[in-house]
Amino acid sequence: MNDKVKLVEVGPRDGLQNEPGLVPTAVKIALVERLADCGLSHIEAASFVSPKWVPQMADGHAVLTGIRRRPQVIYSALTPNMHGLEAALTAGADEVAVFTAASESFCRHNIHCSIAESLTRFAPLLALARQHRLRVRGYVSTVLGCPYEGKVSPAAVARVADALYQLGCAEVSLGDTIGIGTPNRARAMLTAVRQHVPIENLAVHFHDTYGQALANIHALLEGGIRIIDSSVAGLGGCPYAPGASGNVATEDLVYLLNGLGMDTGVDLDRLVDTGRWISQQLGRHNGSKVGLAWPK
Ligand code: HMG
Ligand code: MG
Repeated sequence: MNDKVKLVEVGPRDGLQNEPGLVPTAVKIALVERLADCGLSHIEAASFVSPKWVPQMADGHAVLTGIRRRPQVIYSALTPNMHGLEAALTAGADEVAVFTAASESFCRHNIHCSIAESLTRFAPLLALARQHRLRVRGYVSTVLGCPYEGKVSPAAVARVADALYQLGCAEVSLGDTIGIGTPNRARAMLTAVRQHVPIENLAVHFHDTYGQALANIHALLEGGIRIIDSSVAGLGGCPYAPGASGNVATEDLVYLLNGLGMDTGVDLDRLVDTGRWISQQLGRHNGSKVGLAWPK
């Protein structure tokens, strides 16, 4: 496996969206800038969702307009609807992401509509994004299990991934929202999805609730996946998936990929520093094993 891997750093969005105390905008901006300095080239920096539901993300405009942009870095934002896309365009996002789920109950809890309604909602958003030459990513949540419905079938995931791809999403990210999957189930899911979406357009997004994220990622790397989402210091959780922990830690992922001889372009020393810094800022335990073990 001597290959290039694209890392999508979701710490400033997925990592922070569920923090109980409001994180100052200046800290969010500093986090995004530090992550860019580590060599991360895709950073999900904001989320244009209802501040009533996710107050932590209410300052997305200030974050996106406040960062010193590095020309080689893509700064993206979540946009659940047209309102969100318009806000992302005004703030100058380089890329946006729509999000839905493979299970109806999670979709309803998260974005207050059915899966079919979410797809209908995304069609005009993708059309407007196309006019602005803005790349759109599509997330499918609950690909290996739903907090309300339990197991989710690979066929259900494949249907939604296919629909997002057909709508024009350039990349479809497959989210194990509650971190419940294990490698054989992850492989079966990917096998179903890749019959509809080319492997190079697929990303994986593992939360690490059950400590299986790296094992699942390794299995799917062997299956050809080369786009992986992660969060510095393993920050995060989802407000609509109670008990779910953060994404796989970027430090742990980079350590694994370095060991496999794969190229990420990330400076692990600086990344460890950044993970320690943000953990300290948030008064949080560092969720990266590498972050804890790395020599001072
Ligand atoms: P809604 O409540 O169903 O209904 O919102 P609405 O469209 O009628 O809007 C209600 C209010 O929200 C209105 O304001 C709108 O103006 C406002 P009011 O009249 O009550 O004052 N509003 C907005 N405000 C700002 N930005 C917007 C926007 N849209 C409407 N874009 C909506 C539907 C989707 C907006 C809402 O349910 C929502 O924001 N949900 C939050 C979803 C969310 O952020 N979830 C976490 C991220 S997804 C995730 O973490 C999973 C992922 O990581 C992958 C994985 O791990 O599986 C991606
Ligand atoms: Mg997530």
